[in-house]
Amino acid sequence: MNNKPISFRAFETKDIRELHRWFNDPVSLQTVGRTPLTYEETVTHVEQKRQNGDLLLSIEDKDCELVGWIFLQNIEYGHGRASLGILLAPESRGQGVGKYAIEEILNIGFNQLRLNKIYLTTRGKNEQAYGLYKKIGFVKEGELRNHTYIDGKYYDTYFMGLLASEWNK
Ligand SMILES: CC(C)(COP(=O)(O)OP(=O)(O)OC[C@H]1O[C@@H](n2cnc3c(N)ncnc32)[C@H](O)[C@@H]1OP(=O)(O)O)[C@@H](O)C(=O)NCCC(=O)NCCS
Repeated sequence: MNNKPISFRAFETKDIRELHRWFNDPVSLQTVGRTPLTYEETVTHVEQKRQNGDLLLSIEDKDCELVGWIFLQNIEYGHGRASLGILLAPESRGQGVGKYAIEEILNIGFNQLRLNKIYLTTRGKNEQAYGLYKKIGFVKEGELRNHTYIDGKYYDTYFMGLLASEWNK
């Protein structure tokens, strides 16, 4: 047990089993994926992210149970920017874990990696994620029209960003 609601550790190869389950959850397929992935495809996905130098972190709850992963990708130190992604286990959503985890990784990105901007894209249809990002302080910087195709319909994708100066205010 520890006192913080969540904590981070490095994402380990053994966590891929759970990641595979989260990827194939029906809500995840609508919000982050498109079609189900095999376990082997999930392994390849993680390997590609490692090769790209993404910062991959596992999120654990108070009881040290694995409840999700969060990452910074497209890290470009020359420009001082990176983009953010998060996926929680289906049973751990809707309890505030996402907010704590994003705040933690923003602190790492801005105050340890010295980034100037953290950005993301989210499907406009994903009201839970969009609501959360706005609450944390991300600003919608643009809309990519008809950027996502889900169940026979096109949806806009939102580009959102947060600057270090806004976060550290
Ligand atoms: C999206 C995700 C990261 C959000 O994390 P979470 O811990 O489940 O978030 P919560 O439901 O606790 O919501 C946090 C805040 O978001 C906002 N929010 C949640 N649902 C909302 C909705 N339907 N409309 C508007 N705002 C909403 C609220 O402000 C809420 O804060 P509050 O509980 O203090 O009111 C998580 O649900 C998840 O992993 N979903 C599947 C994958 C995914 O969509 N990833 C993001 C892709 S861009």
